[in-house]
Amino acid sequence: MMKKGILALSDLSKENFEELFKRAIELKERRKKGITENILAGKTAGLLFDKPSTRTRISFEAAMAQLGGTAVFISAKDTQMTRGEPVRDVARVFSGYLDALVIRTYAQSLLEEFAEFSDIPVINALTDLYHPCQVLSDLMTVIEYKSGYNDLKIVWLGDGNNVANSWINAAAVLGINLVLACPEGYFPDKNIMEKALEKQCGQITITPNASEAVKDADVIYTDVWVSMGDKEGEAKKQVFAPFQVNSELLAKASKDVIVMHCLPAHRGEEITEEVLEGSRSVVWSQAENKLHMHKAVLEVLISR
Ligand code: CP
Ligand code: NVA
Repeated sequence: MMKKGILALSDLSKENFEELFKRAIELKERRKKGITENILAGKTAGLLFDKPSTRTRISFEAAMAQLGGTAVFISAKDTQMTRGEPVRDVARVFSGYLDALVIRTYAQSLLEEFAEFSDIPVINALTDLYHPCQVLSDLMTVIEYKSGYNDLKIVWLGDGNNVANSWINAAAVLGINLVLACPEGYFPDKNIMEKALEKQCGQITITPNASEAVKDADVIYTDVWVSMGDKEGEAKKQVFAPFQVNSELLAKASKDVIVMHCLPAHRGEEITEEVLEGSRSVVWSQAENKLHMHKAVLEVLISR
């Protein structure tokens, strides 16, 4: 699946993950040393976005530029798709112009249809179901701070959303000990969880008890309670209150715990200002690493 693109992390092998981690870390070091790259000279990636983005769009655009290639931003609403042009037509047309297509949209099925009718790699930059590139760069951050991901207790707190689903996929392939603490009714996707457990590689558990879950955690990860396109909105917030990442919860974790958030953060909701800006938070490195990981992803998919 790596050759065809990245639609979900369940399609990657452990070797695929390891290759991306290694290359992203190398590319980061090279950039810090001021070394410039020309690996994707003459190549063009299209960025088709149907939802807002602060990080993913800009880091993919910068990644292409820094590898010597070009990124073309395509606002989905400005294409003929809004007037009913079929995905299968757009996919074939784009394949003639571009060397890769990065897509942020609602339905995973739309992304899959693009991949089916494209001759170029298609990369998932977030759907309602998954956010695979986010979790790739998050794991890179975990490796940097914890020297690996084995023997760690990684705890997800909050909504069982797209980022949580990608964590489950990654945990199943890499054998990660992942505990997801979510309110009843907001557990991650049942099918994804079942498939992950069939692989029997990771130790993945779900609980509605946040304070139990964070005991001795090495990594605490949270995300917004209301995702883009989530119709339930504000009504959710009361149910999620016990899942807020605050100092009280943090005190139960390992003393070396790192706190992660894919951002954007809502201070006072899923995380307090104190924790987000505190000494255990690695959110800014996490955001930076999206650039380095996206470079590795683009290089591997386009140049090989
Ligand atoms: N973390 C993340 O994907 O952020 P954006 O929505 O700003 O791209
Ligand atoms: N779960 C969030 C992630 C944003 C990067 C959303 O889908 O809105």
